[in-house]
Amino acid sequence: MSTVGILGAGAMGAGIAQTAACAGWRVHLVDLDLDTCEASKQGIITRLARNVEKGRMSQTQADAAAERIAPSTTRDLHGCELFIEAIVEDLNIKVAAVTPVLDVLPEDAIIATNTSSLSVSEFGERIEAAPRTCGMHFFNPAAIMKLVEVVSGNRTEQRIVDRVADVATQWGKKVARCADTPGFIVNRVARPYYLEAFRCLEDGIAGPPTIDSAMKLIGGFRMGPFELTDFIGHDVNAATTRSVWKQWECPARLAPVAAQEAMVAEGNLGRKSGCGVYDWSGPQPVCVYRPTQDAATSVGGLDATALRFCEAATQNAEALADSTEQQRIVFTRILAALLNEAAWAAHQGVADPADIDVAMRAGVNYPRGLFAWADDIGGDLVSETLARLNESVDDNRFAAPS
Ligand code: NAI
Repeated sequence: MSTVGILGAGAMGAGIAQTAACAGWRVHLVDLDLDTCEASKQGIITRLARNVEKGRMSQTQADAAAERIAPSTTRDLHGCELFIEAIVEDLNIKVAAVTPVLDVLPEDAIIATNTSSLSVSEFGERIEAAPRTCGMHFFNPAAIMKLVEVVSGNRTEQRIVDRVADVATQWGKKVARCADTPGFIVNRVARPYYLEAFRCLEDGIAGPPTIDSAMKLIGGFRMGPFELTDFIGHDVNAATTRSVWKQWECPARLAPVAAQEAMVAEGNLGRKSGCGVYDWSGPQPVCVYRPTQDAATSVGGLDATALRFCEAATQNAEALADSTEQQRIVFTRILAALLNEAAWAAHQGVADPADIDVAMRAGVNYPRGLFAWADDIGGDLVSETLARLNESVDDNRFAAPS
């Protein structure tokens, strides 16, 4: 039986432990003390019991998975083929915590970090194990979300990346391979879904319910941008934007939007604070966003292009027939911005188009991969739409990579 050591028994470490144990791996779960590991294991047992109730697994399978998880200390990690760190998001703390573990692990053990925003290469260099260190970026909740971004550091050996990709697949995950770049794939390519929605709001094109419904009805997205950011938390969402934007040297495409920053400053963080763009305290969400300026009456004469783009992009002709001009402009702006971001990511060597498509489908449940979607729409129409949109803005953010 293969063995994995997991450092950090918090939200992510517990989810990863559950995933590995359910796939037949023995798990050593380590945290600051054994009580924390025991409590984390109890949480896993509760979630396994819920899976049994829902018929997703048998009681025998749940018992066997729980049996394979051992609350441990770092001294127990000598038999681990793979070690995953999932502790606080601070490079100095990660380096200080992982360095002594290397003395216990087998010399050829694979070292993986679940970091969302730190450099995998720098982490590998700082612990002096760069060739066998890679990123294994799970999504929250890790036991449920299907995607793992397998991140190659600058000096990670190919066989390490291949083995980690195999392990993630055996654990039932979809793998997207990517380079060690800010935001990796999902946290970078998804940014326009939120940012362009807020810009549509700031431009006064439409209110949140109209924008959310455009993306769901015309685009087939499961949640609209504001429902989703209210769910994620605007503080978390805006912090990710800021981090990715700065690390990519502040392109206009990824720039934070004042409307969202103001919500964070006012404490309107979304569901967790009771109120964000919507008030979630009643049986139905009620939109409480108040525009900072009067609604613009003009949408920039874009409707002819937008209509053709929407016709080519939608799988719901009925919804498109019922849509308003505002909804078509909103959908066109947001989807075109997403397609453009995916193109920039591939252009900048973040990942291959096929991996970007896997990541966006499995990581954020997009109805289609963005490159597959662009192919369906047609490259010429996508280019023409981006060019028309770029003429309508003053920050060049719809400029496509050459
Ligand atoms: P968390 O706060 O739920 O858990 C962190 C755990 O690490 C805690 O149990 C803490 O006691 C333990 N810990 C801290 N310092 C330690 C040390 N020196 N030695 C041993 N254990 C230590 O955090 P969460 O959300 O599980 O995040 C962990 C990592 O996963 C971070 O790097 C985060 O950026 C990343 N991540 C988080 C996601 C999320 O949505 N929460 C998604 C993907 C990655």
